[in-house]
Amino acid sequence: MDFMAEIEDVASRFRAGEAEVARTFFSQPRPLAQHLYWLRIQVARELRNLREISHGELTEFVDKVDRGVTREKIVAELREHYYETRHYAMLADLLEGIGGDHVDWQDLDAERGKAEWSVWHRQEQKRRREWDAISPLHSAAGSFNSGGAGSVAYGVVGLQGNVYEQLLAEVGKIILHDEMAHGEALEEHHPLYQLVKTEEDGRTALEIVQEYSTIRLKGRNFQFGYPLAEERIEAIARGEIEPATLDTLRSAYQGAIDEEQWFDRYRAAAKPLSATTIVR
Ligand SMILES: [Fe+2]
Repeated sequence: MDFMAEIEDVASRFRAGEAEVARTFFSQPRPLAQHLYWLRIQVARELRNLREISHGELTEFVDKVDRGVTREKIVAELREHYYETRHYAMLADLLEGIGGDHVDWQDLDAERGKAEWSVWHRQEQKRRREWDAISPLHSAAGSFNSGGAGSVAYGVVGLQGNVYEQLLAEVGKIILHDEMAHGEALEEHHPLYQLVKTEEDGRTALEIVQEYSTIRLKGRNFQFGYPLAEERIEAIARGEIEPATLDTLRSAYQGAIDEEQWFDRYRAAAKPLSATTIVR
């Protein structure tokens, strides 16, 4: 097996592992506090584009259009901001909908810097910054499995239950669609493919993807209140799980409702949202 095929295989097994964490969480009713907890962490991960826009990154980019930045690139950039913003919006709605306090992205972003709930996310970012500083190969390997894959989304698409579970399953499909539907977000176009040239590059990249993905998987288990035992996490990290391939993910969002329908259903539903997996 060539190195890139091996790296893809490793990433797809960890992706399935993260989905297993989410699926196991929803396999039995759990206290409201645990639902508020996982959702808050997820919402905090999805607010990044709001922060970037607020910091003026989009304005800077727009000013370079036709002056080095292509028109195609600005469309893609806007699409990414739009996608990530709708993930934020729907998940923040769900968080408030099940009974969470009012969500304010700027407060959440400020808290994220030192809160106990964001410790794994910060660990991911710290490792990535370290790899960024070493070489383009290290940097690319560090971002290979960094979230474009919608693992948690894949874990919730099959949820059944009441309004909370149904709306969450639909958010899962929308996120998967957004992560998979457009070329530039996909693994297949990742810069790592150009950077792995020798066997040594391949080994280095594989080690980094393995390490980064392990941090992600452990962070997911933490996020969901440890639904998987430590032994299961270790087994997944050794690859003892069926891979979730890109084709599997693509077929998982078929029949998704659109955004307007989603917000209509959310708005019309009684609050707090009815739920079969929440113990109140
Ligand atoms: Fe997202």
